Parts: sequence; structure tokens; C-alpha cells
Amino acid sequence: MKALLIVGSPHEKNSTYTALSKAASGLEDNGVETQTIWIGDDPIKPCTACGSCAKTQRCIFGDDDVVNELIDLIQRSDGLIIGSPVFYAGINGSLKAALDRVFFAASSSFAFKPGASLVCARRGGSTSALDQINKYFLISQMPVVSSMYWPMAFGQNPEQVAQDLEGMDVAYQLGANMAWLLKSLEAGRQQGIKPSVIANRNWTNFIR
Ligand SMILES: Cc1cc2nc3c(=O)[nH]c(=O)nc-3n(C[C@H](O)[C@H](O)[C@H](O)COP(=O)(O)O)c2cc1C
Repeated sequence: MKALLIVGSPHEKNSTYTALSKAASGLEDNGVETQTIWIGDDPIKPCTACGSCAKTQRCIFGDDDVVNELIDLIQRSDGLIIGSPVFYAGINGSLKAALDRVFFAASSSFAFKPGASLVCARRGGSTSALDQINKYFLISQMPVVSSMYWPMAFGQNPEQVAQDLEGMDVAYQLGANMAWLLKSLEAGRQQGIKPSVIANRNWTNFIR
């Protein structure tokens, strides 16, 4: 059983990474392997809405940056935690560009994989950033994992984030809760429990 953790900061190993590492400990201490990937600090092209991913579940530009690698890694993982620094009360712009393309291309293949969000801020804007990440899960039939507080940590560098003791506990519990859910889902699968998906869904675009 494996969970993927995405570091959505332009900093490879700073605040966001520190908080995600705690979540990774919560997963690993409860028997789930983890893999952490950094989105890097190169520019990431936004979605151009070309629609070519509809047939391939891959982004046509995705081999030029981290996007198709992210798609492959998420598809091969049982659970996903997306971490972001808070930038102007939202997620980092490069992460937003990457997630739009990842989810637009391949979200149907992520259905029923648990997802969790974790954000890191100096001071404010965390709830709207969390909300932004959760929106990708909520439109993709991905169960959203929670913790005992909203998964956010405060600080501008790893030392400050480590001093946010409650934030660190919340991040650890987030990982532990994902491990519990992954094991519960596996037990359910072994019992033959499958999701029930409606056939022929409506698609209306509000045109009457
Ligand atoms: C462009 C930019 C915008 C930011 N906006 C906010 C903000 O809205 N609220 C906040 O508390 N911190 C804000 N910060 C600070 C970062 O969220 C904070 O330093 C965080 O720890 C960075 O995480 P990282 O080191 O993993 O990138 C901003 C930083 C940058 C560079």
C-alpha cells in the first residue's frame, strides 16, 4: 500500500515539505509506504483547454514538465496528499497550473482513491488554500481525509513550522487517518465491496 505526497512549493525542502514529512511519518508508522515528489521550480504551463487529453488521459504538454509524471504516480498510488504553501490566500500558482492539467486529463482514473490536503502559511489565508485543493478531490469521487483540525501548519521556514506543535500533530494524524482509511478500503475490497456508480449521468451545462 503506497501513498504519494506532492510538495507543491517552489522550495524543495522548506515549510511545506516539513509539514508533509510529518504526514508521511503518520502513514509509515501505520504501515503505509510513502513517496514524495516535488513539483520543482521551473515554470509550469497552465491548461490551454485544448481537449486533447480527453482521449489519452495524458496532457499533450505533460512530458515537457512534471504533469504526466504526476499522473502516472497518482495512478500507481493508493492515496494522495497534496501540500502547498499559501500564496495570496490560495495555492502556489505552479501547483495550480499542474493540478488543473493533471485532474482535467486523468481525474476519472483517480476515483475512490483517498485524497488529503495540507497547507503551510506564514500567517493567514490557509482555509481558502485548503478549500482550493479539496475541490480537486470533491469533483473526482475521491474520499477526502481529515484530521482533528484543518490540516494547516504555520511558519516561514522548517524551524518555525516544527514549532507549530499542534500543526505538526494535525499533519501526523492526517497521515495516520489516511493509513486507517486505506486499510479499511482494502478490507472492504477483499469482502467484495465495490463503489456504486450511476449509469448514463446527465451533463447539462445549464442549457434548457
Ligand atoms: C508570493 C507569496 C505569497 C504569499 N502569500 C501568503 C499569504 O497569503 N499568507 C501567508 O500567511 N503567507 C504567505 N506567504 C508566505 C508563505 O506561505 C510561507 O512563507 C510558507 O511557509 C512558504 O512555504 P514553502 O517554504 O514551503 O514554500 C506568501 C509567500 C509568497 C512567496
